[in-house]
Amino acid sequence: MNKNKIDLGFFPTPFQKLETLSKLYPDYGIYIKRDDNTGLASGGNKTRKLEFLIQQALEEGCDTVITAGAQQSNHCRQTAAACAKMGLQCHLLLGGDQPDTYDGNLLLSSLLGAAIHFTGKNRKGEDIKLLKEKLERQGNKCFIIPYGGSNSIGALGFVHAVEELKQQLAEKAMTIDYIFFASSSGGMQAGLTAGKALYDLNAELIPISIDKDETNGVSLEEVVFGIVQELTSKLNISKKTDSSEIILNRDYDSAGYGVLTANERYAIDELAKNEGILLDPVYTGRAFYGMLDFLKNKKLPAQSNVLFWHTGGLPAVFTFANELSNTL
Ligand SMILES: Cc1ncc(COP(=O)(O)O)c(C=O)c1O
Repeated sequence: MNKNKIDLGFFPTPFQKLETLSKLYPDYGIYIKRDDNTGLASGGNKTRKLEFLIQQALEEGCDTVITAGAQQSNHCRQTAAACAKMGLQCHLLLGGDQPDTYDGNLLLSSLLGAAIHFTGKNRKGEDIKLLKEKLERQGNKCFIIPYGGSNSIGALGFVHAVEELKQQLAEKAMTIDYIFFASSSGGMQAGLTAGKALYDLNAELIPISIDKDETNGVSLEEVVFGIVQELTSKLNISKKTDSSEIILNRDYDSAGYGVLTANERYAIDELAKNEGILLDPVYTGRAFYGMLDFLKNKKLPAQSNVLFWHTGGLPAVFTFANELSNTL
């Protein structure tokens, strides 16, 4: 595949065995891929997408990037960092009202120099067009990154990531049977799905849904399928993906986006106290809980090798200090 991208992070990210957890769940070999360590202003999965998206912005001669997300968006924080590094103006449209004090990802995005616009109940880019028109009247040349960086350009980062994983597996002469990860705006899921087909990776994806709300009236499965179709034709992938192959596990998202429940809390404790690795309360805590539930209830065949793809999100931990504090 054409790797026309800039370098924003540290790759390959580590691939490791979770030794203690593999002993606690002895039917399984449990592994982790550390995209929390991509390195861009505290890391995360969006760095992979931004390497391709920002390259495109530069190719188009843009001087300004606009994107959107929740107030604690990891995508927006990493976009702000990428823009700072590449000398681009960054405008973020963030849901909710302006708080008195900035914390977590919001604090980091503002430290990274982004212009922040608060958009009330809109947190998925509904107001991007209006802002673009306004900035263009002022002479800016704008590049729009959709909600979550999820389009066929951003998803290329995860097609590439499959090749990276395949190489790590080859070096260890091993295979992975199942890959769990948090799926929210769909770009990662789409990229992994297309990458699996392109590089013939023989592992089943188990994407855990984080946000039960649709994006602009479209279901996550439809978003993912649309991007996979674009990637299939763009990359000339001979194996065609059927819409029935786009599966999303919705068993763990019922509390709603960004709501911490006993599940996420349990998962955060389990990985932190057994392996010294931190999860976040919104994305990875929910997805890791889903994986533990599968393992505990033996929903996968014994002796399977299972990978958790850690996608980052640490800054949001600090915005849940009250709920997560052990002193309560
Ligand atoms: C920490 C973290 N994990 C997972 C995801 C989901 O990735 P995607 O939006 O590509 O589905 C996100 C998206 O914001 C995220 O910030």
